[in-house]
Order: sequence, then C-alpha cells, then structure tokens
Amino acid sequence: APTYNMIKTEVQGRVAIITLNRPKALNALCSELFYEINDALSRFDNDSGIGAVVLTGSERAFAAGADIKEMKDTEFVNNYKSNFLGHWVEQISKMRKPIIAAVNGYALGGGCELAMMCDIIYAGDKAVFGQPEINLGTIPGAGGTQRLTHAVGKSKAMEMILTGSVNLDAQEAMSYGLVSKVFPPEKLLEETIKTAAKIAAKGAVSVQMAKEAVNQAYELNLSSGLHFERRLFQATFATKDQKEGMAAFAEKRKPDFVHE
Ligand code: CAA
Repeated sequence: APTYNMIKTEVQGRVAIITLNRPKALNALCSELFYEINDALSRFDNDSGIGAVVLTGSERAFAAGADIKEMKDTEFVNNYKSNFLGHWVEQISKMRKPIIAAVNGYALGGGCELAMMCDIIYAGDKAVFGQPEINLGTIPGAGGTQRLTHAVGKSKAMEMILTGSVNLDAQEAMSYGLVSKVFPPEKLLEETIKTAAKIAAKGAVSVQMAKEAVNQAYELNLSSGLHFERRLFQATFATKDQKEGMAAFAEKRKPDFVHE
C-alpha cells in the first residue's frame, strides 16, 4: 500500500475507509490532498476485495473547502489549461463502487461538494453544510450549483449559494434530503461503516448496476431511464449472485454472495 501524507486509509473486511488528515487546515482540499484521495479511490475501486468505501474527515471538519491560499493567485488561463477542479470531479464520479460520506463538522465549499459526489451522506449532529464561495468573489466549482440544487431544490440552493452565509445544520440537511441519517458525532463513523459493510456484503455486480441505474436518474428522461434500468435488471440474471439470492430465498436460508 502506498504511503500518504494527507489521508489515512484502512480496510475492515470488504469496506475501505479513507480519512482526510490535514487537521491544521481543516482538511482544505489542496492539490496534494485531492491527488491522494483520487489515488486511494481508484485503488479501492480496482480491488475486488473491496465492496464499498467510506470517506470521512475529523470531528471538527469533513473539509473546509478548496485550499484558498493555494488557488488565490492562480489565473484563468492556467486554470483553464489545467482543467482546474475538473480532475477532482471526473475521478470521483467515475467510481463504480458505492462511496459513503461520513460528515462531522464543516463541509463547506469544495467540502460540501465532495460530500455530494458521494452516493450516500451520513452526518454527525454538529455537521455544517454550506457553499460560501460567493464571499470570496467566486462560485462553487466542483458541482455545488448542480448537485445542491438537485438535493435541496432551487430556492434553498439559491439562498445558500447567493448569500454564502445560509448553511444547513445536520437536521436541516436531513429534512431537505441532502443527508439520509444523523448520528451523535462519536457514533457516526461506526454507523457509516456498518451501512458500508451491509452494502459490501451484497452481490457486487448488482450493487454496481444499481448505482449506475440510480445515477442515470440525473441524466436521462423517464422512458430512457426506465429502459436503462430494465436492461440492467435483466442482465443481473446472468450473475451467480442472482441465482444464489433467489435460491436462498426459496430455500429459506441466507444468501452467500460470491460477487460474480
Ligand atoms: N483553504 C485554506 N485554508 C483554510 C481553509 C480553506 N478553505 N479553511 C480553513 N483554513 C485554514 C485557516 O486559514 C487556518 O489556518 P491558519 O491556522 O494557518 O491560520 C486553519 O485552517 C484553521 O481555520 P480557522 O482559524 O479559520 O478556524 P475557525 O474555526 O475560526 O473557522 C471556518 C472555521 C469557518 C471553516 C473557516 O476556516 C472558514 O471560513 N474557512 C473557509 C471556508 C470557505 O470559504 N470554503 C470555500 C472555499 S472555496 C471552494 O471550495 C471553491 C470550490 O467550489 C471548490
């Protein structure tokens, strides 16, 4: 396994855990941190022993955004040529395996956007979600205007992004559907790992297909989405795990999935 400077990685059974570990900067997402996140994610995505990934930060901060000090003097032409922030989004949205964010503390700007790139968000009850970029003279650049709007609706997304000072606490984030469960901070990671382990125990092919199909709900119209879903549903019948899952039900026993 590679050595990282700004993240920690751990494997528990079929679950991989990536912990952002740049405490002095509240996990501000500098290029090295993002390089390491992407490197770890692609390794876990390609490791057949891993069925789901958990992404977390510290109790104080999931991530306080893109690194302002690193980007403040960059210029449009170089940002354009280097596809600044594009490489973040592209890598993580290519993940085929489910990834769950466990958010304690601040998830601001790029931190909120990073959480929203994950498939499920669980929050500690002190979590804060916000898009303060407007206060810096810029706008969200890693998906915030799109994913937040899908998650909380136009009026709340506009209010958050245009004022830069309306944040969501964990309960509000849950009431809007941005977050699916809230836990006490000290329970958050263990509860998130439990859910990840539950997912990782299912047949890996149907898990990936389900993720692909849900994500198409953001891309396709209804009839194309239903068509896409039906083809994948039919395709699951080519897997050993579908045979095992249905046989186990008929025989009144637990399925033993082989992820094939
Ligand atoms: N970039 C760089 N450094 C950051 C940072 C960031 N986004 N957020 C915090 N830090 C650093 C602080 O500069 C400080 O460093 P020093 O000790 O060297 O001064 C350290 O982390 C601790 O932060 P604070 O002293 O500010 O801690 P606090 O508890 O007083 O405040 C906070 C916490 C409200 C989160 C505050 O740090 C803050 O407002 N951070 C910036 C949030 C922000 O604007 N995020 C959006 C960034 S732009 C973006 O993300 C673009 C995009 O769409 C991708």
